[in-house]
Amino acid sequence: NNFVLIMAGGVGSRFWPKSRNAYPKQFLDILGIGKSLLQLTYDRFLKLCPPENIYIVTNSQYSTIIINQLKGISLEQLICEPSRNNTAPCIAYASFKLHKINPDANIVVAPSDHFILHEGIFIEKVKEALAYTEKHDVLVTLGISPTRPDTGYGYIKYAADQDAGLYKVIQFTEKPSLEKAKEFLKTGDYLWNAGIFIWKAGSILKGLKEHAETIYTMFDNGKGVYNTSEEQTFINETYPKSPNISIDYAIMEQADNVYTIPSDFGWSDLGTWASLYESAPRNEDNNVVSARQLNIKDTQNSIIHINNDKLAIIRGLDNFIVVDEGNALLIYPKDQEQEIKEVVKEMSIAF
Ligand code: GDD
Ligand code: MG
Repeated sequence: NNFVLIMAGGVGSRFWPKSRNAYPKQFLDILGIGKSLLQLTYDRFLKLCPPENIYIVTNSQYSTIIINQLKGISLEQLICEPSRNNTAPCIAYASFKLHKINPDANIVVAPSDHFILHEGIFIEKVKEALAYTEKHDVLVTLGISPTRPDTGYGYIKYAADQDAGLYKVIQFTEKPSLEKAKEFLKTGDYLWNAGIFIWKAGSILKGLKEHAETIYTMFDNGKGVYNTSEEQTFINETYPKSPNISIDYAIMEQADNVYTIPSDFGWSDLGTWASLYESAPRNEDNNVVSARQLNIKDTQNSIIHINNDKLAIIRGLDNFIVVDEGNALLIYPKDQEQEIKEVVKEMSIAF
């Protein structure tokens, strides 16, 4: 009864202009290794459960891309959302469906845009978590030792004592201010939320009922039609009306049965340019450069990505992002990159 639910409906706006609305980053070969992040994610989970137990939840806009990229996925395994309402409704809808398919469904919910270096260790940790959630009504998240006060993550404070490698979460803080993130890092008591969750369908539905009642009730009303020919009509009508909120704010910050497994499997959220910078090889000036015709000097700690044959000259940059991709150009201070999401929203046509 192990299932995997891969969330592949985000737009990856902090990765603009490489990630575009029509073709977000999870579908791109960001690492230049011949597979998209989604394909890497799917292949990783084939080591955990049979292909028929892997489901993808996404915006219906991306269904063709997914069917083309994942040859093992059938239409029944593709859960489509008619609108973008963030991860809480997405998880609620998918959980009702999986619960109906198997009331004992024990689910790994995973993002589609992470890089994981040590897949063997990753699968072991997930199995430990699944063994625990099988028997306990808890919500588990994998925790990563933080390396910088990044404000794009959830921060987990956990209790000292453990049960079978799991630690109770005392406090979950989604996307703190920089000040708070620095404080958290100093104490040494916090982990980053990897955004990979493990729970029984029943447990997350219970969590939704307690802490996100509006969302729970909306999708509970469709109980009778899931996995039937009437499902799509119900969802097209209901889904766009659901609150727009992430699972982190809706459930993880609220619930008191959250546990974490401190994990170290070479995790990297390729969520932003700086996170790609962290995991890519750097040259002697601490730059990550991918460009064909570039003359660069007096430039450090920067990421330069020029994805065409444009001749480029760069001088005197420190800690910058320079990305030339298609019809778009981004030049932005690296330490202010979290703003890119908002800026991109403002110019929605270009996105
Ligand atoms: N199907 C679907 N529908 N998927 C979505 C939607 C949606 O509306 N919105 C986002 N996703 C997918 C994204 O494609 C991604 O794979 C995953 O859900 C997480 O969304 P992000 O938008 O990337 O979240 P985040 O990076 O800001 O924050 C989350 O991940 C961090 C670690 O990477 C949180 O869980 C943080 O707490 C966590 O630290
Ligand atoms: Mg992310």
